[in-house]
Amino acid sequence: MKSVFVLLFIVLSVLINFSTAVNIPVNGKSLEIKNKIEDFLSKDLQGVNGGTHCAGCTIVLSLVSQYSGIHNKSIEDSLDELCSFFPDEAGSLCTWLVNTYGEQIIKYFDQYQNADDVCHAMNICTSPTCRLFTSAPSKFHNPDHVHEEYNKENPKVGTSPWAWIQELINIFSEEHLPIQDFDGDKHSLEATFRGYNWRGKDCNDLDKSSYPGVIEGTSDPSVDLNCNGIFGSNNQSQSYEELFCANSGAMGIIVSGDSAGAHFSIPPQWMTAKDINSTTYKGIVDILETEIDWPMRSCYTGWDTSVPFVDSMYLRMRERNLCNHRDYQNLGVNGASSSGTKEIIQTINRNQETDKPVLLFLELIGNDVCSGHHDFDSMATVDEFTANILDILSYLDTTLPKGSHIVFVGLADGRVLWDSLWNRTHPLGCEYEEVYDFLNCLQVSPCWGWMNPNETVRDYTSNRAAQLSLVYNQIIKNNTYNNFDMIYYDFPFATINQIWVAQGGQTYDLIEPIDGFHPNQIANYLMAGVFYNQLTQDKPEWLGEINPFNSQIQAMFGNQGGYS
Ligand SMILES: *[C@@H]1O[C@H](CO)[C@@H](O)[C@H](O)[C@H]1NC(C)=O
Ligand SMILES: *[C@@H]1O[C@H](CO)[C@@H](O)[C@H](O)[C@H]1NC(C)=O
Ligand SMILES: *[C@@H]1O[C@H](CO)[C@@H](O)[C@H](O)[C@H]1NC(C)=O
Ligand SMILES: *[C@@H]1O[C@H](CO)[C@@H](O)[C@H](O)[C@H]1NC(C)=O
Ligand SMILES: *[C@@H]1O[C@H](CO)[C@@H](O)[C@H](O)[C@H]1NC(C)=O
Ligand SMILES: *[C@@H]1O[C@H](CO)[C@@H](O)[C@H](O)[C@H]1NC(C)=O
Repeated sequence: MKSVFVLLFIVLSVLINFSTAVNIPVNGKSLEIKNKIEDFLSKDLQGVNGGTHCAGCTIVLSLVSQYSGIHNKSIEDSLDELCSFFPDEAGSLCTWLVNTYGEQIIKYFDQYQNADDVCHAMNICTSPTCRLFTSAPSKFHNPDHVHEEYNKENPKVGTSPWAWIQELINIFSEEHLPIQDFDGDKHSLEATFRGYNWRGKDCNDLDKSSYPGVIEGTSDPSVDLNCNGIFGSNNQSQSYEELFCANSGAMGIIVSGDSAGAHFSIPPQWMTAKDINSTTYKGIVDILETEIDWPMRSCYTGWDTSVPFVDSMYLRMRERNLCNHRDYQNLGVNGASSSGTKEIIQTINRNQETDKPVLLFLELIGNDVCSGHHDFDSMATVDEFTANILDILSYLDTTLPKGSHIVFVGLADGRVLWDSLWNRTHPLGCEYEEVYDFLNCLQVSPCWGWMNPNETVRDYTSNRAAQLSLVYNQIIKNNTYNNFDMIYYDFPFATINQIWVAQGGQTYDLIEPIDGFHPNQIANYLMAGVFYNQLTQDKPEWLGEINPFNSQIQAMFGNQGGYS
């Protein structure tokens, strides 16, 4: 049973939606996918003492129990009601789960009244010392439950309580490329599954030579080959693309990096019992299919301004030159480190012969020091990091068009997380220190080094991060590449914090409340401005000229086809 109880009602909504909503040609792949899913469900626990499953069980059941308290409803009624809040595809599954496990959950809640004890009684959590709500004394006792310490020979370590999401997504999209992409140009007509939430929308998914970023040259002017919404010709048979864009210095934006680059964000209302209502989980399927990332609102490739605090390098570049419309690619992958990025970087779509140059941000702000093993040995060394970055750059020199530019973003100093959050209350109702301890106890912390009560450990982690950041300047000094030049910037958290605090804000307003780890929407908004201003000062020529035809383009082509 342990292996089944992995926040299943959320997980399987993706699977169900997958087969109905996405019309991809699975062909011979369908059996392979089915096998992979079965594999996933039967997989051994990640972490120790119940690991990921214990974290999932405790979080979900603490929400159920708080919800029942807030609305003065029985656990049974609360389970039913919460299920009804999920979209149809997931709702029936949720009901199935409640039918299967509900009786047990209800019985144990009667007996113990708290989520920690219920998950222990269900044998999903297996160490008496790993508890989320440490202030509530345990009533549960099982002499067979023993605390399991990290075992170096046989590590069962998960990278985070959310790692299962990435694993699940990998089943469909191990390559981190759009699932629906008929012409194989790495751009899609779908938003999710690495589609246009991540990479500018394709305008013709049956033509491999048509995608955002391609130079149109002498192709048929009535066809908008590069999807920037500019097409047709004037009464002297001059193509508008040629007239407005050919010599405009247009360029694309790419970010390659980790979950911070992809803008990982768990909607806080999902896990704040008092805010849960019938609308809370309605968008969950799309959100899962975008890997709980929000690249379309990130500081690098954001374009979705339907919510406040969206600003990005892409939007700034587009504002300078409307020919840049839709020319963005976000290659961020949750959990990516410098070694993983050696592979991921190959998902880039850029052709040296046919495409415009790019401004590429390489941001790897923590996973090289946050790897899952909960010890110092598993952090990347300076030599390893150097070798990985050099590999990435060698590859980029073979694919980026001449005249491209690379901005290295250094590693974060994650001590700010502990310093600003440790004694604050997490949306789940306990303190951040308790959440961090709980995840460490289960060996599933996204960053043991920084989310840690031990100051020595936090300092060591920051020290290593700073050493790795220094590698970039060394590389800039030692190396030149044919097709791009390079600059290094510190991860600008300290700068945006200064700006925000000067406006009367608090540091914790800039951190994702649920994971207590990632820069949030406001932080992304501020970072876009900081990067842009830095480049304006240091490398104005990297940003391209302001296009004198912008107002004409806008008058003729409106929103240039938008984004979706
Ligand atoms: C909660 O509900 C029970 C019966 O369902 C009722 O007796 C009790 O007064 C309610 N408590 C509050 C605080 O509304
Ligand atoms: C061509 O278009 C321009 C403006 O777009 C206009 O001023 C001019 O009169 C037109 N010429 C002809 C021959 O229609
Ligand atoms: C649900 O809660 C959100 C805030 O989390 C609120 O904006 C919305 O109006 C609520 N909807 C209903 C139907 O109560
Ligand atoms: C939390 O700790 C900080 C010092 O790290 C202290 O300044 C602050 O007053 C504490 N806040 C609460 C709510 O205890
Ligand atoms: C903190 O971590 C260091 C390094 O691992 C260790 O030597 C020390 O004993 C720890 N301190 C406490 C209070 O646990
Ligand atoms: C850069 O060159 C110096 C001197 O040749 C060398 O010591 C250093 O290891 C090099 N660093 C990198 C990152 O290539």
